[in-house]
Amino acid sequence: MIKFYILTLFPDMIIQGLHTSIIGRAVERGYISIEAIDIREYSKDKHFRVDDYPYGGGAGMVMQAAPVYQAYRALKERIGKKVRVIYMTPQGSVLSQKMVREFSQEEELIFLCGHYEGIDERALELIVTDTLSIGDYVLTGGELPAMVTIDAISRLVPGVLNNDVSAEFESFHDNLLEYPQYTRPEEYMGKRVPEILLSGHHANIEKWRREQAIIRTLERRPDLLEQACLTEKEQKFLEELKIKKKKDE
Ligand code: ADE
Repeated sequence: MIKFYILTLFPDMIIQGLHTSIIGRAVERGYISIEAIDIREYSKDKHFRVDDYPYGGGAGMVMQAAPVYQAYRALKERIGKKVRVIYMTPQGSVLSQKMVREFSQEEELIFLCGHYEGIDERALELIVTDTLSIGDYVLTGGELPAMVTIDAISRLVPGVLNNDVSAEFESFHDNLLEYPQYTRPEEYMGKRVPEILLSGHHANIEKWRREQAIIRTLERRPDLLEQACLTEKEQKFLEELKIKKKKDE
């Protein structure tokens, strides 16, 4: 069970986005909980303003420190213990499956989502423990990145996926991409399912899948192979693939 808390100006976006499909079911079944906290409710302004012009000038608006800090304080008091606060920003460490695995060990996590040109640095200094990016591109706010991260963490929580095996054997489990999948019919648009998958010979199928994973990783993400866990035989298979690839070039 992990409890996710999201400090945001757009709680509806989080709730609507995360209450469908597998994550929605995980909430219903009590494997995870998701609570979005509206930072605007902590504004002392009579119009509930939470942003202001940046000191020093420049384009856009900045989220003020006080509503962010107050929203955090109220939440922390309610939880009653110190919890990691993850600020979603393109300036953060880029999320990886390894980091997802680490976050999935926590009992509670707080996500802080910024908007506009960001949040007053003083609030960040006071509350943030981790800064996280979901990639080298800029989005309009931290909500989608927080949802991406929560999705990735949740699927590692026992019970969330129907079959625990697939959480483990997914892409990146041992730094290999996943093998190709097929379902019925056996032939589609003249393309047949690889015969070995119809053979019922489990050991051969397993071997074929591992080889396909290695081929795919070499083609699409060769950078991952350095960290991949391969048997001696698989290492040999990879070396042969590389030699063949060089010849073909
Ligand atoms: N906020 C805006 N862009 C982002 C990104 N790429 N990752 C995390 N938070 C963000």
